[in-house]
Amino acid sequence: LSRYKNADGGAEVMATTKFEPCDARRAFPCWDEPAFKARFKVSLVIDENLNAIANARLIKETPLGGGKKLLEFAPSIKMSSYLVAYVIGKIEASEPVFADGVPIRVWTVLGKSHLGAFALSAAKFSLEYFARYFKQPYPCDKLDLVAIPDFASGAMENFACITFRETALLVDTNTASHTELERVAEVVMHENAHMWFGDFTTMSWWNGLWLNEAFATFMAAKSMHAWKPEWNIWDGFNVQRGVAMRTDGLCATRPIEFPVGNPDEARGMFDVLTYQKGCAILRMLELFLGEDEFQSGIVNYLEKHAFGNADTSDLWAALEEVVKPFSKAISITDLMNTWVFQPGYPVVTVAESVVSGSVTLKQTIFRYMEGNLPATLWHLPVHLRATVSGENGKPTVIEKVVLLSKESETFYLGENLSSVVVNSGGHGFYRVQYETNLRQKVLDNIGTLTAGERFNLVNDLWASVQSGQTSVRDYLAMIGILTCVHAELDINVFSVINASLQILRRITPRDDDNAGALLNLARDFAGTALNKLTVKAQAGESPQHAQLRGTLLMLLGTFGDPIVIKWAKKTYAQYKVDKTSVDTNLVGAMVETLANQGDTAQYDEFVARKDTATTPQEEQRFLFALASFRDSSLAARTLADCINGAVRTQDAPFVVRNVLMNATTARQAFDFVQANWEKMASLYPASGLSRMCEAITTMVGDDVADDARAFFATNTVKGGEKALKQYVEQLGIALQLKQRERGDLQDLLLSAYQDV
Ligand code: BES
Ligand code: ZN
Repeated sequence: LSRYKNADGGAEVMATTKFEPCDARRAFPCWDEPAFKARFKVSLVIDENLNAIANARLIKETPLGGGKKLLEFAPSIKMSSYLVAYVIGKIEASEPVFADGVPIRVWTVLGKSHLGAFALSAAKFSLEYFARYFKQPYPCDKLDLVAIPDFASGAMENFACITFRETALLVDTNTASHTELERVAEVVMHENAHMWFGDFTTMSWWNGLWLNEAFATFMAAKSMHAWKPEWNIWDGFNVQRGVAMRTDGLCATRPIEFPVGNPDEARGMFDVLTYQKGCAILRMLELFLGEDEFQSGIVNYLEKHAFGNADTSDLWAALEEVVKPFSKAISITDLMNTWVFQPGYPVVTVAESVVSGSVTLKQTIFRYMEGNLPATLWHLPVHLRATVSGENGKPTVIEKVVLLSKESETFYLGENLSSVVVNSGGHGFYRVQYETNLRQKVLDNIGTLTAGERFNLVNDLWASVQSGQTSVRDYLAMIGILTCVHAELDINVFSVINASLQILRRITPRDDDNAGALLNLARDFAGTALNKLTVKAQAGESPQHAQLRGTLLMLLGTFGDPIVIKWAKKTYAQYKVDKTSVDTNLVGAMVETLANQGDTAQYDEFVARKDTATTPQEEQRFLFALASFRDSSLAARTLADCINGAVRTQDAPFVVRNVLMNATTARQAFDFVQANWEKMASLYPASGLSRMCEAITTMVGDDVADDARAFFATNTVKGGEKALKQYVEQLGIALQLKQRERGDLQDLLLSAYQDV
């Protein structure tokens, strides 16, 4: 049941399915397991004034009298029960666009179908792209993309009838930020990829969910890259890989493939390990085998399992049939099984070898927490780039791929080896730690590193701060070099810097001196980039630079920079007159800065803007900004609205999450969550409730941290048990960082960054 308000503010309802993994059995009797495939014929008796869609085309409509009608749909193609779908309500369709002759339509509540144009162009491109990549035509005779006003997931890949939350499908290209457009393209392409990976060929059982989700994530990235190369999608994927590595470095991680014995365990599989780690290891394999070889293996796999099911071993077998062996000692199966069936990943230490021209690589499992680390080994494809002396002694750059299978191995690169980059390109799912000399050479040549390589350098160093191997002082020195000397402009590198600054801010005692010092630190890091970018968008600049400008202003604005606050106020005055007069990539920074400073009048204005928003993104922006106000009576209003029906249940857990992550309101929000836990558990989708709880990873205040640990020792989320363990462990890591670094950090801030 999805509730929403129509254009006149009247209450409306709409019915929608979302069966994955195992809710089809709650709607009709069936063999509700992915390996039982069948053709499904849907017939619906509904009110005369409503419309309905399902997996296949409508073939017959019969008036039944008494205000009812019977709708009969054609039989679907052969598929698993979790893919059955029907949507009933007052809905309208866009005009179709055709992909290889197949009509694609966007369906929405009345009056919104004009917001579907961007999604349609992404859908058309990707459907045609996938048909060619997989050498398999799209198997159905229509594709409906349906925007649901209140939807538990982001989107669901029902065969030929894909459902989405509105923000993931409907967008106005005139007012959306680059991030928002990219999100719509990503979701549409991800779900379209499922038409092949998931719907056409399905994992046999939920333990193999990654065969669906990792591939959809991976293929969406490939399709986006093909569609808009200037979006640099794979650079953006660095951040996602980083998120997976964060979870996968915990004791409470799990292997990508994991036994599933009941519905909650199946639900628990939809996480970063399945999606992002899965995608990352596919990318690693693709770059190791070569894109064409990899593709032919995938084509082979889909052809073999058309309208059927498959296991991980079938995928490797299909690849091995067509890809030439790369080593006598190991096969694709052996190589990849170390990534799919083992939890965690290694850190590779790089040392100069006594053998001239060689480096010694050593792998050890990476963990944030000290303790007994299992001695796990992986087969690692390692991409190397080295400077050696070439013919006639001139320095030459060579690239090489080696396979590290033992704990430690020495590899020859060439005479007069002067520097080496390990994990060149940055696609490997491991961290790198250089011996001091080699590290210095990498830093000396930082200008020659790719964005992905710089990302890993920073991300790995920050991980080693969190695990206690590197001091915050050394980390900040390196960020200083990167931002001020190298003049970093990569948005993804900055996302690590931002995240680390937020954490340092959380562990620093809150007082005016520290706030001033932290702002000066942030200005130091953001200043060079902002000066280069300037506050006004430049003609012909890349979308990432436009995004970065917004990110930097947001950072400074929320750290209390008076100049940025002034900018936000001035810009908002213009926005009130004409929304389109403000750079779409800066609106988020403007809104967040104002909310951070805002009083009751500002709050009321944002509530009104949310309620009268004309796009899902605008509504979402002002809704989520409510969580950034610092006044406790305003936070109380926001929290109350999250359980009284004012905020839709698809959004409420994420709003609460943000109030919990707001340092000023964390304590209050956590008390509220404890007092209303049962109610939230009954109102919110379980996946939302679990994501809400992720906020505890930032709750490092002394008393609130203890309460959070105690609370989650006795309370849990169905299907989110594993995730909660991971959050609690992450909180522990943050607390250790605070213990270890608080004193030195304060000295550093007060000596180097205090205003004089
Ligand atoms: N198959 C999932 C939907 C799903 C999610 C079903 C969780 C059951 C539990 C769908 O393809 C999906 O992955 N949706 C994502 C968005 C996607 C672009 C990553 C989502 O809902 O967040
Ligand atoms: Zn998916």
